[in-house]
Amino acid sequence: MTARRIDGKAAALALRQQVGAEVARFRAATGRAPGLAVVLVGEDPASSVYVRSKGKATREAGMESFEHKLPADTSQETLLALVDRLNADPTVDGILVQLPLPPQIDENIVITRIDPDKDVDGFSPVNAGRLAIGLPGFVACTPLGCLKLLEAELGDLSGKNAVVIGRSNIVGKPMALLLLSASCTVTIAHSRTRDLPEVVRGADIVVAAVGRPEMVKADWLKPGATVIDVGINRIEAGPGNSKLVGDVDFAGASEVAGAITPVPGGVGPMTIACLIRNTMVSAARRERFEIDPAL
Ligand code: GUN
Repeated sequence: MTARRIDGKAAALALRQQVGAEVARFRAATGRAPGLAVVLVGEDPASSVYVRSKGKATREAGMESFEHKLPADTSQETLLALVDRLNADPTVDGILVQLPLPPQIDENIVITRIDPDKDVDGFSPVNAGRLAIGLPGFVACTPLGCLKLLEAELGDLSGKNAVVIGRSNIVGKPMALLLLSASCTVTIAHSRTRDLPEVVRGADIVVAAVGRPEMVKADWLKPGATVIDVGINRIEAGPGNSKLVGDVDFAGASEVAGAITPVPGGVGPMTIACLIRNTMVSAARRERFEIDPAL
């Protein structure tokens, strides 16, 4: 079998265009653009690239992007004061503080300080709790993007066996809760799981989010399974060369799976598209503006 390649780039472009259309209607109705504030502390190269991409996507959708770059030695107090200002600013609909933060700053304290109704990353305890008990709120962008790819590929997910590998607060746990809400039978596997290959063999849907290059092998998969690869790992590829690979052995898995996301070009672009989507949803809620419920 040769798996269908799930084109996350195309899905993300389509979602961004849909959001762009809603932004245009919102601007015409309210006289202002939805606004996303992105805060970067320090100069971590990967974070700087992400923040630049987020700002670009925000502007391309017709939204206002407010970028706050603070030095690496910023105190927690200074960062919290900025979060307070953004919470109170009526032109800001979404707030994102890029993680990781420098060691002098407690991430949990900062995330908890963001107004849950502007927390478009969905990381705050209030939004995590809303997801757990089925209340409307913001869902973290990467798992939300994975769910959208799965629904586009498979339609109704109910009754399917889903295995999520990884239990992080930003991907594994919310992913498992979203799949549970979609009526999947969900298993969360992690570093202490016994006989992981056998657990994965029972899955119609596999979401790999562990950060270990090419860990999931072809012979772990049930033939025809749908595989979503969240991993982005840079590995050596010959002298002076490197390349990006996921958590799944793509070449091998493509022989067994029914459909699979590539790395890059799979989940990554959907994360940013969902951030733009969440920001539009936030602006609409705050202005009581009706948007397409399927967004
Ligand atoms: N660092 C890596 N991914 C993310 C993300 O989705 N949001 C934030 N705020 N920081 C990140």
